[in-house]
Amino acid sequence: MSAPLRVLTLAAEAAPFVKIGGLGDVAGTLPAALRALPAPVDVRLVLPLHNAIDKTQYALTPIASFTIAHADGPIIAEVFQTTVKGTPVYLISGAPIAASPTVYSLDASLDGSKFAFFSLAALELARTLNWRPHVLHAHDWHTSPALHALSLRRARDEFFRSTSTLLTIHNLPYLGVGAGPSLNKFGLPPAQGSPLPKWAWNLPLPIGLLTADKINTVSQGYAAEILTPEFGSGLNEFLKTRADSITGILNGLDMEAWNPETDAQIKTRFGLGEWDKRGRNKMALLQELNLDAAPKRPLLAMINRMDNQKGVDLVPNALRGIADRGWQAVILGSGDPDLEDAARRLDDDFSNVRAIIRYDGALARRIYAGADMLLIPSRYEPCGLTQMIAMRYGCVPVARATGGLRDTIIDYHAKGQKNSTGFLFEAATPEALGQAIRRALDIYQDKRRWHGLQRRGMKRNFSWRRSAEKYLALYEELVI
Ligand code: GLC
Repeated sequence: MSAPLRVLTLAAEAAPFVKIGGLGDVAGTLPAALRALPAPVDVRLVLPLHNAIDKTQYALTPIASFTIAHADGPIIAEVFQTTVKGTPVYLISGAPIAASPTVYSLDASLDGSKFAFFSLAALELARTLNWRPHVLHAHDWHTSPALHALSLRRARDEFFRSTSTLLTIHNLPYLGVGAGPSLNKFGLPPAQGSPLPKWAWNLPLPIGLLTADKINTVSQGYAAEILTPEFGSGLNEFLKTRADSITGILNGLDMEAWNPETDAQIKTRFGLGEWDKRGRNKMALLQELNLDAAPKRPLLAMINRMDNQKGVDLVPNALRGIADRGWQAVILGSGDPDLEDAARRLDDDFSNVRAIIRYDGALARRIYAGADMLLIPSRYEPCGLTQMIAMRYGCVPVARATGGLRDTIIDYHAKGQKNSTGFLFEAATPEALGQAIRRALDIYQDKRRWHGLQRRGMKRNFSWRRSAEKYLALYEELVI
């Protein structure tokens, strides 16, 4: 190929700068994976310079300054550049970004003006640098205003005339409710009279879905699910009209960052088949959690942001329903206060349950390395990362059959044992989850079969290389 493809990626968060959820992993890892391909993509990343970013940690060079039009008068944007693993990263600062203390706030107008300003400034930056992207790649509602702006301008703007757009959906229900009026003040009108349902005319994500040249979600399963009433957030009928432009690309896993053979944060490193070594991690974990030192008793785990999406509320009743089966459990996570309370109550009621209500990345690793099963009862899961990490660490997932979970886990019973890597269940009910755990507990008694499940999971290749190749193919379709 002649000159490399130029892709400008816009995201609200990206590791290592700022990571709140899975979007941060993807936006932080995909650029390097695209640059590592045999035909490297010249991908550049644009992020808001959030207050939460530790500015002293990076060499930030000021490279541009310009203004963005607003109903109350122009607002200055200043742009800083740094480089991470070969990827140029542009960080945009300005009053609407400085105004919100956290990456995402509960205040829709703060978020609305922050991300509208950011999206417009990212476009202006490309023009200032005279760097014409072939593809503008936006993620979720926060950067959808850039797609909106481009669709309004492209026809009469020579600079962006040949720029195509891609919108990746990581989480459809986050539509950007309440952000519309802030967008309007930045000169981005509602999509009045468009094929979107009327209630969505002034919402950033729906407008992104309307105006993007192509759309993808982070698994094929979720790409199909969003066309149904259960998962479509009221947009399923509209999305069906765009079905030809929607695909699914599974996220990868950073196979180096998540490797039980090299993980410095676990007690004993282990590789495929080294079950004794893995067992030492379980014993250390039981001790740390002050649970019975009973290595033969299965240790169930859950590691989650505690919110409705993750189905955390199904777990207490599911566990109560299998109280007779001799297991221990650890729940790690924080979030919704009601769900945190339910987990605490379970800890109070059962001597064999520990609920640790906080975010703790290091403990999470020790749990992946030592627990026997990971419960993932998500109501919906566009892709999901924990199931991939769990499999890589020999912790067998017990998960709801939805989205990326269904696409990455092969059920022990449904598909025959030969390829299976975990247990899946259909209904989002405590009963269905409880039954799946029962099935897993049965197989756990047979060490040969259990080790087979662990071994197949540990062998799965979820590397970013494959995802990056698929993104490249999608970008190429967009420029042809
Ligand atoms: C969102 C989704 C999750 C996905 C992540 C990264 O957090 O809920 O399923 O893995 O985005 O794409």
